[in-house]
Amino acid sequence: MANDTDPRAVSGEQIPEDDGALDRALRPKTLEDLIGQDNVRDNLRIAIQAARGRAEALDHVLIYGPPGLGKTTLSHIIAHEMGANLRVTSGPAIERAGDLAAILTNLRAHDVLFIDEIHRLSRAVEEVLYPAMEDYALDIVIGKGPSARSVRLKLPQITIVGATTRLALLSNPLRDRFHVQLRVDFYPIEAMLKIVSRGSRLLNTPIDEEALMDVAQRARGTPRVGLRLLKRVRDFAQVRGDGRIHHALALDALKMVGIDPLGLDDLDSRVLHALIDKFGGGPVGLETIAASISEDADTIMDVVEPYLLQLGFLDRTPRGRVATARAYGHLGVPWIPPPAAAQQGLL
Ligand SMILES: Nc1ncnc2c1ncn2[C@@H]1O[C@H](COP(=O)(O)OP(=O)(O)OP(=O)(O)O)[C@@H](O)[C@H]1O
Ligand SMILES: [Mg+2]
Repeated sequence: MANDTDPRAVSGEQIPEDDGALDRALRPKTLEDLIGQDNVRDNLRIAIQAARGRAEALDHVLIYGPPGLGKTTLSHIIAHEMGANLRVTSGPAIERAGDLAAILTNLRAHDVLFIDEIHRLSRAVEEVLYPAMEDYALDIVIGKGPSARSVRLKLPQITIVGATTRLALLSNPLRDRFHVQLRVDFYPIEAMLKIVSRGSRLLNTPIDEEALMDVAQRARGTPRVGLRLLKRVRDFAQVRGDGRIHHALALDALKMVGIDPLGLDDLDSRVLHALIDKFGGGPVGLETIAASISEDADTIMDVVEPYLLQLGFLDRTPRGRVATARAYGHLGVPWIPPPAAAQQGLL
């Protein structure tokens, strides 16, 4: 989910500075260029090859996962690999059913329509999408009241690529119409190293191996964060050094940006501290944590929580979020096992 006001270097969400020509240059264009996500790449490669072999449009594709992991990038790659045109829109941008009808009727055979934040489509718009996806058809109602009748228009064979950070918010009928469903996941450190290294080559910035590790380790498994940190370190190297990125300089730069060795920033630690200091480690609802630190619950849910879960700092229980012993350890707060805590009246 894009959030234009979020200034966090590690947020994973898109911020306006990402949108420049530089970012277009950094974005992998083919399946071959794509680093990591092997499973996604293998699945797509087969689906694309099969569709091309039959000279048909590719099946509709749903891509889901946390921000900054490559959903938009994959939609561009899909269109490129299919040799098709890409039309980009988003759930909130399509306000009325007629808006979507207009987009659909302007597409050509095998074109790819990318709908970002597809969980934010309204019901009325979704209803237009169903026949378009299932039968390549558009049902239009002509007239009003008793004389109204429905006319079915044929659409060209197109591919809908939907992206969402919130799979759970997608209605079942919509989800079922995507026959290819791809989950993008956090990247392992080896992939992050390659992504940051490729970025430094494309940015013409020499970086030594240790510094590469410094950046990749703090990128929270998210290419967008890795590339953003690389750019911050590169600025630092240009102003404070000779343009080369080496270990000591990278550490200084990353410290200045406010990121700890695990890639946690101020917001992450405020969430952890709130959970531990104010709510005795939980269980507590996410909304309550968000309210206690005056932050947006959506940002915490999309960006902070998935990474804390991944680090094993947080557990999701039916009664709410719970901080783990590991989270206590990271903050240097002594952890008392739950039975002992209960005896001391802390739970
Ligand atoms: N596999 C990858 N290899 C190299 N760079 C990547 C890869 N995936 C993503 N990137 C880079 O990371 C950045 C973010 O990717 P992208 O915009 O596709 O994320 P997203 O999942 O669409 O995020 P959002 O949920 O915010 O829309 C882009 O600059 C892109 O170039
Ligand atoms: Mg995107």
